[in-house]
Amino acid sequence: MKAKITLLPGDGIGPEIVDATRQVLEAIASRSGHTFTFSTHLIGGIAIDETGVPLPDDTIVGCRSADAVLLGAVGGPKWDDPNARVRPEQGLLGMRKALKLFANVRPVKLFRGLEAASPLKAERLRGVDLVFVRELTGGIYFGQPKGKETRNGLRTGFDTMVYDEQEIRRIVELAFQVARKRGGHVTSIDKANVLATMQVWREIATEVGRENADIRLDHQLVDSAAMRLVTDPSSFDVIVSGNMFGDILSDEGAVLTGSLGLLPSASLGEGTLGLYEPIHGSAPDIAGKGIANPLGTILSAAMLLRHSLNLDEDAKTIEDVVQKVLDSGLRTADLSGGQRSLGTTEMAGAVVNAIEAA
Ligand code: NAD
Ligand code: IPM
Ligand code: MN
Repeated sequence: MKAKITLLPGDGIGPEIVDATRQVLEAIASRSGHTFTFSTHLIGGIAIDETGVPLPDDTIVGCRSADAVLLGAVGGPKWDDPNARVRPEQGLLGMRKALKLFANVRPVKLFRGLEAASPLKAERLRGVDLVFVRELTGGIYFGQPKGKETRNGLRTGFDTMVYDEQEIRRIVELAFQVARKRGGHVTSIDKANVLATMQVWREIATEVGRENADIRLDHQLVDSAAMRLVTDPSSFDVIVSGNMFGDILSDEGAVLTGSLGLLPSASLGEGTLGLYEPIHGSAPDIAGKGIANPLGTILSAAMLLRHSLNLDEDAKTIEDVVQKVLDSGLRTADLSGGQRSLGTTEMAGAVVNAIEAA
């Protein structure tokens, strides 16, 4: 198999974790006889510094012409001025929109041996295996009008939460497809008790539920869902939500695994082109120290192999090898509880060695 993979390292720990993951993809390529060609493009703060915009045209072209895209992270304090003309995050949002990646799939899988790394009691974690299906190109992130202005002499900001039935239907239908291959259970998250957008959301989700009666559907308000995610996380299978609720709940979901640095994601659209991104950010507090956990990005690369390149076995190799490396006691600092830990490159090296030995 020959494939073109575009790398978007971005900011903060982004270049460290993408570099580490590229080594893992190269190890997979040489083990299985694939040829992966990599090209690297600018996005986020570094793109602002070098070109003035967070998403240069050249980057969009580089992503459209690839078979798959792997992103590190964007953003950081350097570009955080609330009055700045452009922000790094606009680069990522623009890329998701440009590639029409309306679905962000974020699996929360617990690795054996990491139970103690989560602040939750081990008995609450038993049986946890869930996946977030987050709407990614609509909702309050993109609704118009949005802006800042002075109203009655007061500085005022406003955003619009909006979803039409097509946007809701396609993401909920995808959640049902995902559920059909897993536990057969979808929980749709909304705030239908307050928001008109979310009343339409619940109506459409209910219709899709009726059309897919083999799947169990329940609805839950986002506030109590946030609580259930830590009190009874094993009661979830597939969680489908709008853009903002999915963003928030999935970081909470990461806590179940022991570290935000472990969670991968796939941003998918109609075709096979996907953007694969760990769910965490640029981690400015540890950037440049060489200690970031690369496993969320490495597991995103596994999703890339599976969803964009149809290399299910290679994806499984990476996932199995990550468990094996953890079984051998190796940990990055976020998981070591102050004990001896490996740096980003060393952890990736351990994964590479295990792939070569597999
Ligand atoms: P963050 O996810 O960057 O960091 C939250 C905490 O988790 C920090 O303590 C960080 O050190 C830790 N952490 C995150 N990833 C880690 C890893 N791989 N290994 C070890 N520890 C890790 O969230 P934040 O601090 O709220 O945001 C920082 C910047 O990142 C902001 O500019 C934000 O907009 C941006 N951001 C970008 C993305 C993305 O590019 N996909 C996602 C989220 C946040
Ligand atoms: C994520 C991030 C992004 C989001 C930001 C950086 C735009 O938090 O991917 O979870 O909110 O979607
Ligand atoms: Mn987020």
